[in-house]
Amino acid sequence: MKSSLLFSLRLSLCCILSLLTAELPHAEETLSVDNEAVTEQLQQEFHGSYPETASPSNKVHSQELIAAEAEWGILPPYQTTVWAYNGKIAPVIRINLGETLKLTLHNKLPQATSIHWHGIRLPNAMDGVPGVTQPAIEPGASFTYEFTPKDAGTFWFHPHANSPEQIERGLQGLLIVENPDEPKYSQDLAWILDDWLLEKGAKIHDRFVTGHDLMHDGRWGNVVTINGHYRPSIPVKPGERIRIRMVNSANGRVFAPTVEGIETQIIAVDGLPAQSPITLQNFYLAPGNRIDLDLTIPKNAAGKTFAVLDSFGNKANNLAILQVEDTAAVTTPTFKPIQAKHFPDWRSAIDAPVTHEFMLNAMRGGEHGITWTIDGHSGHDTIAQELQTQRFYRLRFTNRSYRLHPMHLHGQFFQVIAVDDRPVREGFWRDTVLIGPKQSVDIGLVPIDKGLWALHCHILEHAEAGMMTTIRIQ
Ligand code: C2O
Ligand code: CU
Repeated sequence: MKSSLLFSLRLSLCCILSLLTAELPHAEETLSVDNEAVTEQLQQEFHGSYPETASPSNKVHSQELIAAEAEWGILPPYQTTVWAYNGKIAPVIRINLGETLKLTLHNKLPQATSIHWHGIRLPNAMDGVPGVTQPAIEPGASFTYEFTPKDAGTFWFHPHANSPEQIERGLQGLLIVENPDEPKYSQDLAWILDDWLLEKGAKIHDRFVTGHDLMHDGRWGNVVTINGHYRPSIPVKPGERIRIRMVNSANGRVFAPTVEGIETQIIAVDGLPAQSPITLQNFYLAPGNRIDLDLTIPKNAAGKTFAVLDSFGNKANNLAILQVEDTAAVTTPTFKPIQAKHFPDWRSAIDAPVTHEFMLNAMRGGEHGITWTIDGHSGHDTIAQELQTQRFYRLRFTNRSYRLHPMHLHGQFFQVIAVDDRPVREGFWRDTVLIGPKQSVDIGLVPIDKGLWALHCHILEHAEAGMMTTIRIQ
């Protein structure tokens, strides 16, 4: 508060002075100098928030992934024909911080594909966006991704080609970067939350990017799953302290997860540790978002069950059951949960000028009948903004439509600093932020990695029908 008061005080003093001297051009200069003072202070404050470079340990984690058709029991006894990596829905790749991931993708699909490493700060050429950072990987071809993540945390990967169909059919996985220094939980679970639009016989409805999807918040399915299983029952023990890493990989659905009867803390959002733990309550997990949860099964809960619910929308949806074994309680690990080493004090960000306002809207026409636009343009051939590394920027998303737009910026983290012009302090970083109908959201960021980075709505149908652009960082 103090510093922001100081700056606004200074601004108004300048205004008074300029009125007195009646030298307007001079006054504007003073104003921009003050803007610079604010941004300078915000940049200073940013330093040390997260590592600027990777620290490779020179260990390489090599992996092959085959993207191909497979059979999967979403709703047993039915088998559903899906598209999957190595025949599995929601495969998990776990590497240690410092390790280099060297992953070769073999495309056995009937169409071109790619892999985008959502949330990972990596060299631009490894970002997996056809037409922006690499050519699409044609059927029968292979491509090797190689990078060393800079951050430990929960990340995920998915195709960035014909995403509304490829992700919906099941191509998605988790990339967990472990920091061996972090405390050990009794269980460390990784959950991909998704929904499927299934027809009779559990067959995937195979019309994608429909007018209905485009007029609404994308394709919402009729079966919600965790790791490809409908309402799974998860075995836990009394006294166990559990970390649950959740990602929302749905095309359009937003989740608001809760664990019935257990006090649950969010310890990380979109991969990075929060400033301090946040009680899980009304957290909108939009497509692309991740949260890491910390919860303890009560010692006296032997034989009980706890429901994991989705309370977004009018009626709560049962996602999974924590089934407590009827056994003696285990010793609960006691430790302080992870938290950000340094979290910038960006209260004065509200005094920084808005560098650019992205206008989110729709218009008639285009390949799908409706085109979703950013600043009146559609698709990744546009460069919406050119930014410099190591500078603080305040960017605004203004939603001119009545639909939801979870906006995702590749290769960077940002913080929400205002909603509808009112200051907001969330206490964590993001790579995806949900913009509500007619809402405006301001974010603050300090770019670190150079390149051409995609910026798009993570409702896959909106992105496919145009709500996609790029930002050049140099
Ligand atoms: Cu999760 Cu551009 O994507
Ligand atoms: Cu959208």
